[in-house]
Amino acid sequence: MIKYGVLLACVLSVSLGAKTFPENFLFGAAGASYQIEGAWNEDGKGLSIWDVFTHTSGHIKNGDTGDIACDSYHKYKEDVAILKQLGLKVYRFSISWPRILPNGTPTQINQAGINYYKSLIKELKAAGIEPLVTLYHWDLPQHLLLLGGWMNPRLADYFGDYARIVFKNLGDDVKYWITLNEPGSTCTQGYESGTHAPGLNLTGEAVYQCSYVSLLAHAKAYHIYDTEFREKQGGKITLNLACAWYYPITDTDEDVEAFNRCFDFNCGIYAEPIFKGNWPRRMIDRISERSKLEGYSFSRLPEFTDQEKNLINGTADYISLNMYTSRTVWHISDEPIGTPSLDFDLGIGSGVDSSWPTSAASWLVSDPPGIRYLLNHLKNNYDPSEFIITENGWSDLGGLDDQGRISYWKGYLSNILDAIVDDQINVTGYTAWSLLDNFEWAEGYTQRFGMVEVDFSDPNRTRTLKNSAKWYSKIATTRQIDP
Ligand SMILES: *[C@@H]1O[C@H](CO)[C@@H](O)[C@H](O)[C@H]1NC(C)=O
Ligand SMILES: *[C@@H]1O[C@H](CO)[C@@H](O)[C@H](O)[C@H]1NC(C)=O
Ligand SMILES: *[C@@H]1O[C@H](CO)[C@@H](O)[C@H](O)[C@H]1NC(C)=O
Ligand SMILES: *[C@@H]1O[C@H](CO)[C@@H](O)[C@H](O)[C@H]1NC(C)=O
Repeated sequence: MIKYGVLLACVLSVSLGAKTFPENFLFGAAGASYQIEGAWNEDGKGLSIWDVFTHTSGHIKNGDTGDIACDSYHKYKEDVAILKQLGLKVYRFSISWPRILPNGTPTQINQAGINYYKSLIKELKAAGIEPLVTLYHWDLPQHLLLLGGWMNPRLADYFGDYARIVFKNLGDDVKYWITLNEPGSTCTQGYESGTHAPGLNLTGEAVYQCSYVSLLAHAKAYHIYDTEFREKQGGKITLNLACAWYYPITDTDEDVEAFNRCFDFNCGIYAEPIFKGNWPRRMIDRISERSKLEGYSFSRLPEFTDQEKNLINGTADYISLNMYTSRTVWHISDEPIGTPSLDFDLGIGSGVDSSWPTSAASWLVSDPPGIRYLLNHLKNNYDPSEFIITENGWSDLGGLDDQGRISYWKGYLSNILDAIVDDQINVTGYTAWSLLDNFEWAEGYTQRFGMVEVDFSDPNRTRTLKNSAKWYSKIATTRQIDP
């Protein structure tokens, strides 16, 4: 009788249109080492490029740093207790490379760093929460920057050695790995615009070398996992993709081509190599053509050797997708040949629709259907067996009654649910960005993404649930949007 009642309730709810997230869908939240841990010089940790960048004046709003941040290095048990209290089942965090290898090389392994992540994972497991671990979320050991950073192809070997040490020490308890978080952000903001560490502004050149080395490093770690650990540890590993959605403003061939180019330069640049073994054709053609006119005897976009193509091809066990925003795009005439630049290579106009609410960050607007279009586009082009949305979130200026964040998440989660139920897209998890208010890179602590407020003026870094945390907890536990 009870069974029949439950069944009837299900049938009714379906017939009334209340869609439900699948039983095995994991709701969670995310964070990253430099943005939350603090303890920048404790227990043997080495310097990262973000320590150096934030300690140099003029780079970060209000001169903020991640020296203490949310103090999660000391308060991780509180973080896990909050995740548990909210009923979340997956936590995405990243490992600080220099906390484990102080100068980035295997010559010195910092056991205290390994112990910290072991304790965090143990605490998560005890609370029934799956760890989803990013090996690199931008805090490169400073020593490796001096060796060329993401310009140096040998960084792939250093990253491989680091990854092996992490798999060996932590891999028994981790089923989901991400090699690099948003390599596109590292390469454009770190090497093209210079707004992120290492603060270089080598337009039109370094950005592509950085993308190339990032793909080599990802592939190196993927194959180390695949050949040395997968059989025993049984996890999955991938490269993180950060993609927006784009709308051509008209359906003319030129605007549609601008859309395709924009997608390729921003999302295809990493998706195409890991799923198909090479850069998007439009990038190869555009960049080599402009390089030639600029007088180069080679393309500013490095060419993969056949061996590298084979190494990179097929190195995604699932898609880890960071998605926040949408843009409108249109054709523009090409910029004259002169200074090499990513923007000139891309050669499009872009804007936003006036109906889209804008967050505290001008780049971030709310266009919920965009995520459903994007999921379909990725599925049609790359056909991954599984998607996990590893970042999606909204920034404001703070406050506990964060209705803007609730309405953003409600819209995006509804569209993800439609993609699962109506479009048969296999999205198996969602880690909202972010669990805690945290160090938002060049914006310092001025922009808040957390579902949990952190009081940065309090030495205790007291955590307080915002209304969005309570709302999200209800979604996660009922598996329905606003039941
Ligand atoms: C980067 O270089 C370009 C060209 O020299 C310049 O216009 C721009 O202001 C620079 N940006 C930064 C962040 O230094
Ligand atoms: C990548 O692998 C796929 C599937 O094995 C294959 O069809 C494709 O030709 C490969 N790409 C390259 C550039 O070798
Ligand atoms: C979705 O992905 C999960 C995890 O890989 C897998 O177990 C499941 O079979 C997939 N579902 C479909 C419909 O492909
Ligand atoms: C910080 O936390 C400690 C231990 O929980 C407590 O004793 C102390 O009163 C707190 N201080 C502030 C300023 O909240």
